Amino acid sequence: KFAITIAGGGSTFTPGIVDMLLSSYEEFPISEIKLYDNLAERQEPIGKACDIMISERYPDVKFSYTTDPEEAFTGIDFVMAHIRVGLYAMRELDEKIPLNYGVVGQETCGPGGMAYGMRSITGVLEILDYMEEYSPDAWMLNYSNPAAIVAEATRRLRPDSKIINICDMPIGMEDSFATILGLESRKDMIVRYYGLNHFGWWDSITDKEGNDLMPQLTKYISEHGLVLDTDAFQHNDESWKETYRKMRDVIALTPEIIPNSYLKYYYYPDYVVETSDKEHTRANEVMEGREKQVFSTAEKIVEAGTAEGIEFEADAHATFIVDLARAIAYNTKERMLLIVPNNGSISNFTYDAMVEIPCLVGSDGPEPLHIGEIPHFQKGLMEQQVNVEKLVVDAYVEKSYTKMWQALTLSKIVPSAKVAKDLLDALIEANADYWPEL
Ligand code: G6P
Repeated sequence: KFAITIAGGGSTFTPGIVDMLLSSYEEFPISEIKLYDNLAERQEPIGKACDIMISERYPDVKFSYTTDPEEAFTGIDFVMAHIRVGLYAMRELDEKIPLNYGVVGQETCGPGGMAYGMRSITGVLEILDYMEEYSPDAWMLNYSNPAAIVAEATRRLRPDSKIINICDMPIGMEDSFATILGLESRKDMIVRYYGLNHFGWWDSITDKEGNDLMPQLTKYISEHGLVLDTDAFQHNDESWKETYRKMRDVIALTPEIIPNSYLKYYYYPDYVVETSDKEHTRANEVMEGREKQVFSTAEKIVEAGTAEGIEFEADAHATFIVDLARAIAYNTKERMLLIVPNNGSISNFTYDAMVEIPCLVGSDGPEPLHIGEIPHFQKGLMEQQVNVEKLVVDAYVEKSYTKMWQALTLSKIVPSAKVAKDLLDALIEANADYWPEL
């Protein structure tokens, strides 16, 4: 049985992860779950509610929540990390500051993502270091955002650490593909995907017998986007539907392969800015929606003293994190998309880039599969973007204003060095409590 620490215990996603861990108990038995957060007040209601939920469903599973690193990270096998440094208040600024300069405002793409990256690196390294100090054999399964920058930072600053960076975005999209194809599960497909995090393409999808499913999928997406008229559709908020509808135009540039929906920010930034509400962004939607819901559900459970009949909205994608833990624990060699050092897998792309590609996962970690050469269009976009990500990490390590200015200037969605500089100055001011001093 395995002991797990969820870092980011106060996250709105934590109850969903706990719920999913309990539901997966048969395939992945756990002895203990601990929540860790550095914000006691935020974690407490979620901790109390999870305590009730767990003791009702699996009384033998030990549970605790703490802000003490030693307690949190001692005697564990896995850390599942999904931290958000600066919470949604800072996400709001990541989205709104760029929009004020006429630039895409998004939590992981462009200037907002870079600002978030500069905040996240310290937090993720801190958790990794705690884990290595108190449970040196443990693995950290990290899906803290912005995953691309965080992954580059851990590659560079903790090259020998047992950390695996993974993202749920491709998984969410593959769930939609499976629904479009009338398959029971995304696991009925064998996919080939390559790119950077939130910046990649599927160029082959077959069923288990090897039948090509791409023609049917690309035809559907070209006509309808990825919006599905079904209750099972995960991203039901209008902003997500818009992203998935826009897939019709995103796929038009590579009609035979399927892009990650986040490429809309890079292909159509003008459209994104025009259709963004500068006063009310995704952070506001989440604060008014998911945040309220999760905390009020937690309160209800605590008040009632039981979780029976009161349910958190579980995140259906969260199962990927158990798949990953199982693959390591039982050496299953499951094929999964992970963010790993390229090391020649994409043969005509930067060797030391963190790329998102299929890997076989076993007890020693991921074994990346060979992708070979990729086309000029994708390669060109990726070269530009990967150097943005590398420059952000340079800026963080060297505390360099110039490197951060270069990163912003190089970003495809920032129109000029002038806008980049104005934006940088505004972001420095907003992030004074979080960024290293540049
Ligand atoms: C997807 C992405 C994540 C991102 C999340 C934001 O799942 O893969 O990287 O954090 O969307 O969702 P939200 O509902 O907070 O906008």
